[in-house]
Amino acid sequence: MHLPGGAHHIAGAFGDDDGPEQEVLDPSTGQVLWTYRADTPATVERAIDAAEAALPGWAGSTPVQRSTVLHALARELSAAAEELAQAETAQVGKPIRLSREFDVPGSVDNVVFFAGAARRLDGMAAAEWSGTHTSTIRREPVGVVGSIAPWNYPLQMAVWKVLPAIAAGNTIVLKPAENTPLTTLMLADAAARAGVPAGVLNVVNGPGPLTGESLVRSPRIAMTSFTGSTAVGRHIAALAAANGTRLHLELGGKAPFVVFADADLDAAVRGAVAGSLINSGQDCTAATRAYVHRSLFDEFVAGVAELMAAVRLGPTRDEDTDQGPLASFRQRDKVAAMVTRAVADGATVVTGGRAPGGELAGGAYFEPTLLVGADQRSEIVQSEVFGPVLVALPFDDDDEALALANDVPFGLAASAWTRDVFRAQRVGRELAAGTVWINDHIPIVSEMPHGGTKGSGYGKDMSVYSFDEYTQVKHVMSDITGTARKEWQDTVFRPR
Ligand code: NAI
Ligand code: MG
Repeated sequence: MHLPGGAHHIAGAFGDDDGPEQEVLDPSTGQVLWTYRADTPATVERAIDAAEAALPGWAGSTPVQRSTVLHALARELSAAAEELAQAETAQVGKPIRLSREFDVPGSVDNVVFFAGAARRLDGMAAAEWSGTHTSTIRREPVGVVGSIAPWNYPLQMAVWKVLPAIAAGNTIVLKPAENTPLTTLMLADAAARAGVPAGVLNVVNGPGPLTGESLVRSPRIAMTSFTGSTAVGRHIAALAAANGTRLHLELGGKAPFVVFADADLDAAVRGAVAGSLINSGQDCTAATRAYVHRSLFDEFVAGVAELMAAVRLGPTRDEDTDQGPLASFRQRDKVAAMVTRAVADGATVVTGGRAPGGELAGGAYFEPTLLVGADQRSEIVQSEVFGPVLVALPFDDDDEALALANDVPFGLAASAWTRDVFRAQRVGRELAAGTVWINDHIPIVSEMPHGGTKGSGYGKDMSVYSFDEYTQVKHVMSDITGTARKEWQDTVFRPR
């Protein structure tokens, strides 16, 4: 497997610091893939220096210059696609099919999208709104961005953070999750090969409280963007508030999956299994709570249980494997403990509910799990599990379904399954989420925004909407009369 040339990539070059030793494990076997020394606050400072030094040149480059190197980056990533897929699979425990068909091509497509979007920063047309001035809108970069990314989709999350930032002329220091640094370092290396100027994209690595916090605490960071847990997100928000730093937070979800009486049951069953198990359920938009009309409930539960039981857990490099392990033993143990508590609270396991034995016992595996009988107020219904666990609950009418679906602290994604166009439009309006799917669950496109509401945070990733996070709008208002005496001044002093 391809290993990076150092623990950080600053000003276009790999290097190493001497912080605490970190291990990158293959969670499908527990084997150590790579060890590195964490970056200390001094290295984070050096990365910010590099980003500051690169800022005037990059912000002052033309859109077509930025676009050209970003297209070159897309080509570098495409050429390294298989190496990236292998590294992503190894460090996260993803089935190789998922890395090859989703993570890597999705990341490349995002780079291509932002290479184009760099040339299209929108604003209102210049005009003489006052009659005596010409108003123009400028969209300017915010400055040096500090970003912290999670371990579930390391390459995609890095790309979602880096690309809108640098396409808009910012420079960035990015810290991936400490257990999944490999593909983000490969991204930085690819950027250097593509001709992204030194210092535009810098990557540091290490634990959140050490390396991450020194980035967030820096008064030289103009903006912090974070994807991860709600608890850490709120901690980061408090640190950012101390400096008045701009924030973009993506804090996970608890997506409802609402199956109405008129739904295509087969489609809903397949959608629920795929939507809850993708990436072993470590997806902030994953289907987690299936609210099913009582008339379909038993059939839905039987169908989901049957399909879940047919999902093949296996070695991640095996093309036939459907589901790999969780990304870490810690995450597997968290998921297992939540399922145990759900059962203690009165839920019933229909299928799954445990770590498999046999040849998979050495990895962080957990079986696809379907629960019924949970209380709406219980932890398994209210809190993010981030594992291959779906809870099914019945409902009797549309008002109840919507109320239950919205009755959690999160609001990232939701789906509704119905063949009634008016019902579909109503749920599109009333489900409290940043994304609502109708008759599907999970698909994303680079052109459309991703981001939450309520406890899921705020701000958009992907799409031109992300430029609202990574740019500031400036109004330049120029007098066109060329006269000393302006009429509005009469409100301040009488003309003499
Ligand atoms: P986490 O929030 O601790 O990790 C996310 C990132 O934050 C990592 O890069 C980590 O190094 C960094 N971080 C942690 N503490 C920090 C600090 N004090 N200052 C700055 N950066 C810090 O997530 P964790 O503990 O690995 O996972 C726990 C739960 O969080 C999961 O079970 C899941 O429910 C949720 N989660 C949600 C994600 C999402 O996509 N929204 C992604 C990852 C986790
Ligand atoms: Mg944590």
